[in-house]
Amino acid sequence: MTVAKKMQEFAEKSSWIRKMFEEGARMKAEYGAENVFDFSLGNPDVPPPPKFSEVLLELARNDKPGVHAYMPNGGYPYVREALARRLSEEQGVEIDQGDVLMTCGAAGGLNVLMKALLDPGDEVIILAPFFVEYMFYIDNHGGTARVVQTDAEFGVDLDALEEALNEKTKVVLINSPNNPTGQVYSRESIMRLGRLLDSYSERYCSAIYLVSDEPYRKIVFDGTEVPSIMKATTRSIVVSSYSKDLSLPGERIGYLAVHPLAKAKETLLDALTLANRILGFVNAPALMQRVVEQLQDVSVDTSIYEARREKFCAVLDAAGFSYVKPKGAFYLFPKSPVDDVEFCRILQRHKILAVPGRGFGAPGYIRLAFCVEDDVIERSAESFKAAMAERQGKDND
Ligand SMILES: Cc1ncc(COP(=O)(O)O)c(C=O)c1O
Repeated sequence: MTVAKKMQEFAEKSSWIRKMFEEGARMKAEYGAENVFDFSLGNPDVPPPPKFSEVLLELARNDKPGVHAYMPNGGYPYVREALARRLSEEQGVEIDQGDVLMTCGAAGGLNVLMKALLDPGDEVIILAPFFVEYMFYIDNHGGTARVVQTDAEFGVDLDALEEALNEKTKVVLINSPNNPTGQVYSRESIMRLGRLLDSYSERYCSAIYLVSDEPYRKIVFDGTEVPSIMKATTRSIVVSSYSKDLSLPGERIGYLAVHPLAKAKETLLDALTLANRILGFVNAPALMQRVVEQLQDVSVDTSIYEARREKFCAVLDAAGFSYVKPKGAFYLFPKSPVDDVEFCRILQRHKILAVPGRGFGAPGYIRLAFCVEDDVIERSAESFKAAMAERQGKDND
């Protein structure tokens, strides 16, 4: 065998999203792309804001000597300065440019973080349903994922979380707005979580960090606010990117920020910076750092996603699905009327591509991404109804 056993295992059981993607490509070739309703991928289709290309072109024209050179591993200080100003407002605490590190997307940031924090066997608590790549990022750095279920509305279940805490817990990783549920955790639950982690950190004489992965922070609906984790505990780290709110996932630009009052902050920041270097990222892409410096207060038109959510909910209501209405991000996570893998096969017969909930640690649900034209959502309505009717036919067999 040429590749590591572990990688083979990962490849086999890893990615429902990838499987659906391949299935989708096959179906589109067979039936024509316009006849397949592909809700499998969270690949933002809303264009970046117009200011993105303006800034990009201007920077490309004003190429000064050295702009393509190596830089401090944490990123350009003036870019981190601009980001620190915005994060200070967002988080409600005074963040310095030295507390911020530019990364290759949120995924790069999470890997840097795990590399810097985890010793073999250390545990990272994640809340199900979760972004499936977390499992790999934790494993990449010798950690163990401990999965805690959320409540019926996909909110934080503090009792279940408390039961999972132990001497090995190093990180509690949350994601709000959430992929795949669209849930935004309440301020009260974040504040209580912060207090809980502080008390257990003191009990175990070892920091348990509250890490918030929040690339969907700006994509929220009905005026929902995403609470600050830095107000909840000084043992907190924000990880994020411009992949979703500027629609730039291919450009691999993101960041992380450590609470300005975190204990042993300098040691932590040094470890994070070193991890950025030795994981082979070296630094986040230079040109994109310079671009996002000027786009701190800009985001995609989130009203497009909000309108699609309304359309999609109407389609699902008409077909008889039950779901928790998402407060942010661009996913719906309805209950599956039968086993989720079986139901995805039924949907596929009606030319709908969805991802089984078990791909997110939540069997019994399906994930539908609304990064598609409104028209695709509207035209899928009859197919969703037909899939539900086929399922009912099975119930009556
Ligand atoms: C919850 C969550 N975290 C992290 C990422 C990775 O984001 P990035 O492309 O910025 O690395 C994604 C991407 O889909 C995501 O949904």
